[in-house]
Amino acid sequence: MIVDVDTGIDDSLALLYLLAHPRAEILSIASTAGNVPVDQVAANNLAWLDLCKAGDIEVTLGAQTPLLAPLMTTEDTHGPQGIGYAELPVSQRKLSNRNATNAWVELVRERPGQITGLVTGPLTNLAMAIRIEPALPRLLQRLVVMGGAFHHPGNTTPTSEWNIAVDPEAAAEVFAAFAGLPADRLPIVCPLDITETMEMRPDHIARLAERAGSSPAEVIADHHAPTTRSAASNPVIRHFSDAVRFYMEFHRDHDQGFLAHMHDPFAAAVALDPSIVTCRVATVDVELAGTLTRGTTVADWRGMWGREPNAAIATTTDPVRFFDDLIDRVGGMAERLY
Ligand code: BDR
Ligand code: CA
Repeated sequence: MIVDVDTGIDDSLALLYLLAHPRAEILSIASTAGNVPVDQVAANNLAWLDLCKAGDIEVTLGAQTPLLAPLMTTEDTHGPQGIGYAELPVSQRKLSNRNATNAWVELVRERPGQITGLVTGPLTNLAMAIRIEPALPRLLQRLVVMGGAFHHPGNTTPTSEWNIAVDPEAAAEVFAAFAGLPADRLPIVCPLDITETMEMRPDHIARLAERAGSSPAEVIADHHAPTTRSAASNPVIRHFSDAVRFYMEFHRDHDQGFLAHMHDPFAAAVALDPSIVTCRVATVDVELAGTLTRGTTVADWRGMWGREPNAAIATTTDPVRFFDDLIDRVGGMAERLY
């Protein structure tokens, strides 16, 4: 897999999940500017690899800014460093000598038809890679993208989702590049419609800690002061708990309940096993000019534009099964490591 992230609290858990999963072989982690600036994204990626005692996995630096738009970041959602209240030790690992765009291009050329791409941040790096290698969509085995909102309100503007809204031009280029591929090779798009049904609650964290054999029992509560920090004996649990508590407070403060949407870990689960979702094929494009709707994803479900389909949009899944597997895998890894 090539995993392109803007780490990010939920990106962090997506990485932990993939590192924990025996079927995932991560060839390269691309860092994209999004939730926080790209240097911080890269630092977070390296730090999570340390915490998971991962082998030598390449981490590349991506573009500093979107293709055209000025960069927006969202520290109020993900914390000052993108990982909520967690404070991970600074890694001594080195970044790759090649940049994210070149890594995408070189890896898919080396292994045609073998690589799954997973993008859980803005699509900047991938769009730049497709400019260099227009055959990239056909060289990938499959692409999975967390992004967009179709029959669902946006989380950035009333109609736009963050990953698309940060770099709408990049998203539009990527969707266009996949037009005409066979249905089973179209990118699987995981929009807010489905990812906002992945509601992580304090009970999930308690179960995760228990699965890891961490003590004491891990309690995240709505009434805890913001200065509260986890005392979990297991470092993976401790740091992730501190990260996700920030995210739950953010959701609570935006009237969504004391929970956190696990957008990116869900997209990771889809990349690992596309059979967990049912999809509807459509032609997707991105509004680039609207004064109110820039960054909005529009799906033509009925072929009204007369253009070939370019996406398989995930519409239904089983959230309980998703969380059970996530907890078992990440908890099991945490137990093995510490
Ligand atoms: C997406 O936006 C980011 O803030 C999250 O990490 C996720 O990838 C959800 O809209
Ligand atoms: Ca993300």
